[in-house]
Amino acid sequence: DKANFRHFMAKEIHEQPEVVGHTLARYVDMAAERVLLPVNLPFDFRDIKRVSIIACGTANYAGYIGKYWLERLARLPVEIDIASEFRYREAPLSEGDLAIFISQSGETADTLAALRYAKEHRLHTLSVVNVTTSTIARESETMLQTLAGPEIGVASTKAFTCQLMVLAALAIAAGKARGELSEEDESRLVHGLIEIPRLMSEALNTEPQIDRLARDIAKSRDVLYLGRGTSYPLALEGALKLKEISYIHAEGYAAGELKHGPIALIDENIPVVVIAPYDRVFEKTVSNMQEVAARGGNIILMTDAKGAAEATIESLVTIILPDMAATFAALVYAVPVQLLAYHTAVVMGTDVDQPRNLAKSVTVE
Ligand code: M6R
Repeated sequence: DKANFRHFMAKEIHEQPEVVGHTLARYVDMAAERVLLPVNLPFDFRDIKRVSIIACGTANYAGYIGKYWLERLARLPVEIDIASEFRYREAPLSEGDLAIFISQSGETADTLAALRYAKEHRLHTLSVVNVTTSTIARESETMLQTLAGPEIGVASTKAFTCQLMVLAALAIAAGKARGELSEEDESRLVHGLIEIPRLMSEALNTEPQIDRLARDIAKSRDVLYLGRGTSYPLALEGALKLKEISYIHAEGYAAGELKHGPIALIDENIPVVVIAPYDRVFEKTVSNMQEVAARGGNIILMTDAKGAAEATIESLVTIILPDMAATFAALVYAVPVQLLAYHTAVVMGTDVDQPRNLAKSVTVE
């Protein structure tokens, strides 16, 4: 049931602090500030030369963010793949390496086929799934569960952030196992994860402002999403979410790619959503925003208080998110990104939970 919400999607967005908290509790020892995986891994992270992360749609974008974390925290080379591409491109695979499959339903045909392909090539297979009785859960060597609970809205929201939580814990565990993270690093990072549910609740407070903004977005034909670092895959996710439920065309780009093509689209009719927590690359993103502003583009900046103070650009709408360590900011910035898509769809009057042409679980290749 939808509780007091108009749509399942709204309910699921609001449930995130709670279910992300449940997922966190499954993967970390909160008191000790240590990662504690609920299963024993049948491989040693020190023996893994390369990780392939394979998934579709929103799960693929969660994997993309996981790639940034595994590379940075565990110094592991990671490839991110779309399931339907991984399988047919005959990429060289080495026996004993690790393939990670991410799927809410655990029944996505392309992801399942890629899992079977990886097993044929004798890779270790680990799945991050929400439905533990699913085919992908059963057929993978190791299964890590997201505790999102049933997700009814076709647009994935809480499954995405729970996938991120599992991937963050896994990246810390890998960094620890490979000797890349000290005990102090681990406790600092785990402490950061423990803060996430509270920060997500705070991020939900941006809803009235986003609701007002959605009225303008709903008038647009195209919307651009930009970000750097983990905000880049989140920009891809924001664009997917918007087009899937509001039918407004949207594209996500790495902010640095703007001048390599998409800048040609910029005029006063195109809203540009910039996802930019104050981090090491913030200054670079500010110069990209200046390029947009100089061409009359309307910028909606999602940042924190520090970022807002630094980004002195005229005609900017700022959505202020809580201060936090930048590493795991994607979990918190996902909230306004989802809310913007949701409220725009509500203004458009579309069928938010059952968008046209889409199914919750895509069981054909
Ligand atoms: O069940 P899965 O996580 O394997 O589904 C993958 C995609 O079909 C799914 O994330 C899709 O992109 C969503 N509708 C996005 O909101």
